[in-house]
Amino acid sequence: MTTQTPALRLEGIVKTFPGVRALDDVSFTVMPGEVHALMGENGAGKSTLMKVLGGIYQPDEGRIVVSEAPAVMASPLEAKAKGIVFIHQELSLAEELSVAENIYLGELPRKRFGLVDWETLYAQTNAILEKLKVGFDARTRVGDLSIANQQMVEIARALTVDAKAVIFDEPTASLTDAEKVVLFDVIADLKAHGVGIIYISHRMEEIFKITDRISVLRDGQYTGTLTTAETTEDEVTQMMIGRKLDLSRNVSHHELGDVALEVRGLSCGHLFEDVSFEVRRGEVVGFYGLVGAGRTEIAETLFGLREPSAGKILLDGVETRIHSPADAIAKGISLVPEDRKGQGLVLGMNCRDNMTLPQIDALTAGPFVADGAEIAIFDQYRDKLDIRTPGWKQLVGNLSGGNQQKIVIGKWLSMRPNVLIVDEPTRGIDVGSKSEIHNLIRELAAQGYAVIVISSEMPEVLHVSDRIVAMYHGRIMRTFTSDEVTEDNLIQAISGINGEKVA
Ligand SMILES: Nc1ncnc2c1ncn2[C@@H]1O[C@H](COP(=O)(O)OP(=O)(O)OP(=O)(O)O)[C@@H](O)[C@H]1O
Ligand SMILES: [Mg+2]
Repeated sequence: MTTQTPALRLEGIVKTFPGVRALDDVSFTVMPGEVHALMGENGAGKSTLMKVLGGIYQPDEGRIVVSEAPAVMASPLEAKAKGIVFIHQELSLAEELSVAENIYLGELPRKRFGLVDWETLYAQTNAILEKLKVGFDARTRVGDLSIANQQMVEIARALTVDAKAVIFDEPTASLTDAEKVVLFDVIADLKAHGVGIIYISHRMEEIFKITDRISVLRDGQYTGTLTTAETTEDEVTQMMIGRKLDLSRNVSHHELGDVALEVRGLSCGHLFEDVSFEVRRGEVVGFYGLVGAGRTEIAETLFGLREPSAGKILLDGVETRIHSPADAIAKGISLVPEDRKGQGLVLGMNCRDNMTLPQIDALTAGPFVADGAEIAIFDQYRDKLDIRTPGWKQLVGNLSGGNQQKIVIGKWLSMRPNVLIVDEPTRGIDVGSKSEIHNLIRELAAQGYAVIVISSEMPEVLHVSDRIVAMYHGRIMRTFTSDEVTEDNLIQAISGINGEKVA
């Protein structure tokens, strides 16, 4: 590998924004046919570096070398022409257009008189889609696709280019396990064709499964490159956060209070059926299952986003109907949604206002918003969640992906609900902040909140939960106490292999 010409070399890249030195002299090399991980805490500079590489930002200093030729990427189109393809953390598709138009945007095949050759367009597109084994076709409107499928469209677009390097910025954040397998096949295929791949993810198990080397950024500075086969998660983490991570559970031995939420025989069509459970004050109940097991749909029903077709919801022992999210909030239920981009944030608004948005009525005294109270709330949760931003005035759209997520989490926590539901609380969050959020969840329970945590990560549910509800195909298979649960019996339960309850 060492005698080869690098696919890509970054030399002394510097990029600053007002108040932030996002990249501070970053250099590393990507070889052809190598999967190169880029890791670092939320806000370390990973996406910014890739945007410099992809022609979205111009570096203040430093240069990019592609196959030994210095390359100026004045625009994304130019980067693409030089063989740098970028699959974004935030999707960048035109929702109103078809899959085919999105993939070949700006390069639609033409017939005589400049008319679009739709037949060729659809045929070319479907050929690529077939390779990706997706369940939609070239004519589908992108806005009608799930986020995971929109991601597959971005990947399909990348495959149309003769790429030297492909950048994946947190590609698996919203993919199912089956879609991940397809993605990893695509990456293996690119690798076999000698393409250099930069892979950004906070998921260690993926990093160790598919990458050859790992480069680490900390606070915009390059801290080194490791060979994946010769390093450990601990070593990578230490390079990322500059200290050893304490993963011991912050066990809170507090008394459980009364039942805050009880659900009896709740159903919502076929999404989930006959679901019964309770959550006490002071308790964290984890919901574990495969994507599609119905966990998010239960949360949405409790938050008034879906109407149940049968069953009862009781709050503090009183049967209640929840008509809308506003109604849920008024009754003390908060939901930190899974799709935080779509449901949680106003990107053009500042950090403080995003965080205090749902409380604006409570904080507004007459015609004036109590500025000081809002800033105090923001400061409190910035410290608790370690949100990296120069100040509350920063637009949320300028924060790194993980820090945007922390704003949403802070928003719902700051409402001090009776029942807090968090759906995939640490998706896109770096390892250090992950354990901070886990501790915060335990702390909230200790303060008397009833907490539901939905997660697809087994270590996470095992770590934070007092009890774990295992779901399979819209039904509860089994509820475990933290004493009796093991990885094995949990996996069995969510796969539907569970003694008497399987038909
Ligand atoms: N357009 C911008 N204006 C101002 N600051 C910005 C802008 N883009 C990024 N930043 C800042 O630069 C820093 C690096 O952000 P970046 O998005 O590169 O982080 P990241 O490593 O990708 O983090 P994450 O894991 O959360 O996605 C952050 O402090 C961020 O707030
Ligand atoms: Mg990022």
